[in-house]
Amino acid sequence: MTKIDLKSRPRRLRKNDVVRSLVQETILTPAQFIAPVFIHEGKESEISISSMPGIYQFSLDRMLKHVEELYKNQIKSVILFGIPDQKDKEASSAWNENGIIQRANKKIKKHFPEMLLINDTCLCEYMEHGHCGIVYENRVLNDPTLEILERTAVSQAASGADIIAPSGMMDGMVRSIRSSLDQNGFQDVAIMSYAVKYASAFYGPFREAAESIPQFGDRKSYQMNPANKREAIHEALTDEKEGADIIMVKPAMPYLDIIAAVKENINLPLAAYNVSGEYSMIKAAAQNGWIDENKAVLEMLTGIKRAGADIIISYFAKDLIQILEANK
Ligand code: PBG
Repeated sequence: MTKIDLKSRPRRLRKNDVVRSLVQETILTPAQFIAPVFIHEGKESEISISSMPGIYQFSLDRMLKHVEELYKNQIKSVILFGIPDQKDKEASSAWNENGIIQRANKKIKKHFPEMLLINDTCLCEYMEHGHCGIVYENRVLNDPTLEILERTAVSQAASGADIIAPSGMMDGMVRSIRSSLDQNGFQDVAIMSYAVKYASAFYGPFREAAESIPQFGDRKSYQMNPANKREAIHEALTDEKEGADIIMVKPAMPYLDIIAAVKENINLPLAAYNVSGEYSMIKAAAQNGWIDENKAVLEMLTGIKRAGADIIISYFAKDLIQILEANK
């Protein structure tokens, strides 16, 4: 055999599991995952969501059991989404002190004080038209919406939220929420801003889960155009200046370049939202036997982290420990 003189043989470090693990650059840990939880107003029931196998809308009592399971599986951060019975034009169930989220916050804090409680602060689930703000003549108004977001954030903080996560893509939302939290004595409540949120088809299954499909038009006048990258940096820097504590990019999988670019430009922790459509695609392919679910999920989540996400919000969070175990 002729001897080939190679300067580099990367395969030396791929020889076995031990050496592969030794040089592994990206590691997933449940401590950096957030699980989304949907809560409805019914009693003793969990309603399955046909487009998201394995995900449910929980009544308050069932939610508690689910949270306990998450905690046992080392997921100690949750982001709550409410499905109220009452929808109107002012999203009044979003800021009602007895609203579904406010009740859920109190319940979780009472039974699991160590759970990190994040609230999605948006109005679409609470508006009869399904848009994320006040609507006038078929337009979503920015500044009047801020006032309602402030009210919602303060009432979420008052009922126990540790982190407020405004997701409506209204200009100035971080600034106005920060100042009303401070004015109301909630200086220690953090803000995780959905700073870079694209108008995406991948939210489809979520809108079934959260019953928040816009009744007319779309969200393109407030969510970002998927074609834009520099605008993402602008949005992230604006929210950093306005007082956000964590910046989020959403969705994750089709936006890995955006995650990497935002990471380069901000000095805050970066979260990525691995959204409903990303979950459902893998579930559907796996159900058809077209893909190995555990391997595909691990590869996807690793890619999101490798791109620069410090934190991942994912519907797979609840299964993460089992997925990591299965891939050993
Ligand atoms: C509320 C909100 C949405 C998602 C999170 N918060 C839907 C939307 O903007 O239409 C999507 C989450 C997902 O798809 O998993 N504005």
